Formats: sequence, C-alpha cells, structure tokens
Amino acid sequence: MNPDTKRKVLQLFPSPIFVVGCAHEGEVHAFGGSWMGQCSFDPPILWIGVRKDSRAHSLLDLGRPFTINILSAEQVKVARVFFKPPTPTEGRFGTIPFHLSPLGAPILNDCQAWAECVVRDKASPGDHTLFFGHLTGCGLNGAGAVLTTVSSGMKYGG
Ligand SMILES: Cc1cc2nc3c(=O)[nH]c(=O)nc-3n(C[C@H](O)[C@H](O)[C@H](O)COP(=O)(O)O)c2cc1C
Repeated sequence: MNPDTKRKVLQLFPSPIFVVGCAHEGEVHAFGGSWMGQCSFDPPILWIGVRKDSRAHSLLDLGRPFTINILSAEQVKVARVFFKPPTPTEGRFGTIPFHLSPLGAPILNDCQAWAECVVRDKASPGDHTLFFGHLTGCGLNGAGAVLTTVSSGMKYGG
C-alpha cells in the first residue's frame, strides 16, 4: 500500500470538528476532536475516538460523563484552542467560557449544539479508544453550517 495514497484516501472522509468535554472527581477538561458518530437509534448512542496517551483518555471510563460541543463553521479559532487544551480557570478555557452539564462535563457557552453522554462501553482496537456514550441530554443554540474537516481544511485521519 502506498502511504501517500493511504493518507489521502483516509483524509477524504468528512467529519465534524468539535470539542469534547469531560470531567472526573472535580477535574474538568476539553479537547478538539473529529472522530465521532452515532451507532444506535434506540437507545441513542454516540461514540468518540480518543487517543490513548491523551489527558482526556485518562479521565474517560465506564460511568463517566462527556459532552460533544458542535461548533459553527465560523468557530475555527475556537477549535484551534482545544488542539492544545488550556487548563480551565474560573469557568473559562483560556478566554472561552463554559458551564457544566447536568452530569458535570463542560459545555461551551458559545457552541452551536451540545450533547451529553455517559460512557457505557468502550473498545480499543488500535491507538485510540472508542468510548460509547448513551445520550443523556442535548441542546441546540443555532442552525447554521457546522465546522467540519471539509469546511475548515483541518485534518486528523490518515
Ligand atoms: C483537526 C484535528 C482533529 C483531531 N481529532 C481528534 C480526535 O478525534 N481524537 C483525539 O483523541 N484527538 C484528536 N485530535 C488531537 C487532540 O486535539 C490533541 O491530541 C489534544 O492535545 C488532546 O488533548 P489532551 O491530551 O489534553 O486530552 C485532533 C487534532 C486535530 C488538529
């Protein structure tokens, strides 16, 4: 397999760029992600792919909450902040304000939509873990185009 072709082909798959919020024992954290999807209608279940050596990975485990914060197509700068996540202080990640979901994971005040899940399953087939979260809540703040790998040119797969 040609490595350059492999990278190009795998980077063709469009995906949203979003912010994952997680929390455990008083610690709050968030990072910029792009690997996610829905894998069940009933019950509604979402999965996220999380790098095994990341801070977020050490916080996520069975029974833990996480949020998916969907960004608008204009929020490229917000996404960039979370590719090197700042330590939260006084309800802000850097300059970006957040509040806590009912189960305690961060929701960005300014996001297009959010979903809150609780981890009920996981699978580690490679260098990322797929955490499967049962949907426990969601909110919709806007209706415009959302930030994606296609709209922003940002890439993670390959
Ligand atoms: C465009 C883009 C998409 C990304 N998507 C993911 C992803 O889906 N899963 C992941 O674990 N890391 C992803 N990352 C990397 C994380 O944002 C990065 O590793 C971050 O530093 C992890 O933070 P943490 O170690 O503090 O939890 C992505 C990075 C970029 C630039």
